[in-house]
Amino acid sequence: MKKRILVVSSANIDFVQRVSRLPERGETIISDGDCDYIPGGKGANSALAFARLGADTVFCAKLGRDENAKKLKRLYASEKLDTRFLFEDKDAPTGLASIIVEEESGANRIIVYPGANARLKEADVEEAFNCYPDGVFVQFEIPDNAVLACAEFAREKGIPLFVDAGPARADFPLSELGKVEIFSPNETECEILTGIRPDSLESCLKASIRLAGATNAKYVVLKLGHRGSFVYDGKYYNIVPAHKVNVADTTAAGDVFTAALSYAYLQKGDILEAARFATLAASICVSRPGASTSIPTLKEVKEFAQKIKK
Ligand code: ATP
Ligand code: RIB
Repeated sequence: MKKRILVVSSANIDFVQRVSRLPERGETIISDGDCDYIPGGKGANSALAFARLGADTVFCAKLGRDENAKKLKRLYASEKLDTRFLFEDKDAPTGLASIIVEEESGANRIIVYPGANARLKEADVEEAFNCYPDGVFVQFEIPDNAVLACAEFAREKGIPLFVDAGPARADFPLSELGKVEIFSPNETECEILTGIRPDSLESCLKASIRLAGATNAKYVVLKLGHRGSFVYDGKYYNIVPAHKVNVADTTAAGDVFTAALSYAYLQKGDILEAARFATLAASICVSRPGASTSIPTLKEVKEFAQKIKK
């Protein structure tokens, strides 16, 4: 039977500009690339990834009452996301993100204006837990209280909690999460949370041990961009290398990776197999532009797996 995952997190509209170089401080440049408005938000990207990979996905988030909210709702409806717990706030706009993508490397810089995302309440989270989830997935683009409420209800219901640590805040009370099944930061988030830059095996291990201690996580999975991921189970570690692909834009790679990792793990309980599956999904994501526009379906992941076997 399909597992039901509850994603509690953010939804944004991304204003994306692709440029060959970034402005210096105080400099104005005229863009030499294209631009677009694309549905995004860490939570929505992950929710869409779960749904496209085949999970029964319930998405809990807060939007404004504006044209952007209408646009996002149309997308979610067409993707069969369960939006019973998609709330609206009449006084705040739908979340926005400004994204600059460097054309050459596909690397991005993002500033999020949280808008209605900042108004997601513990009571909203409590209501969403009425959907009888098999697992709950959360990120840090919503208020700390909403994240901690997810942890508390997951504990109460005895279901696994999956935490994507983006965007990281050094002052987040990690120890209050209680028991976490998988805790997954990217390189920057790892450094913000531990003070350790994960640039060698030794530093990855040191950071993972620190994070496992701070979060009581069963697994810590560090996302290391083109270097792949570092999987730590409390005793042993493994590296899952990234695939060599033509990188168009890495936006949402981390969101897709952690969603695919959590879903595959929820299905079979094998963390390494799940990390390999997540790596396939993230490879496709980085080869395409945009956030929601780059998330693969299960069929695409299977086809890619076949292609690289040959
Ligand atoms: P984002 O750019 O969305 O913020 P992130 O920083 O959260 O992503 P990354 O570590 O960059 O997360 O990427 C997640 C996964 O995506 C990596 O573990 C890897 O499997 C894949 N990936 C990222 N960048 C590349 C790349 N340049 N080439 C191949 N795979 C990549
Ligand atoms: O991880 C990528 C996402 O971060 C973007 O879609 C943007 O909205 C921000 O939330």
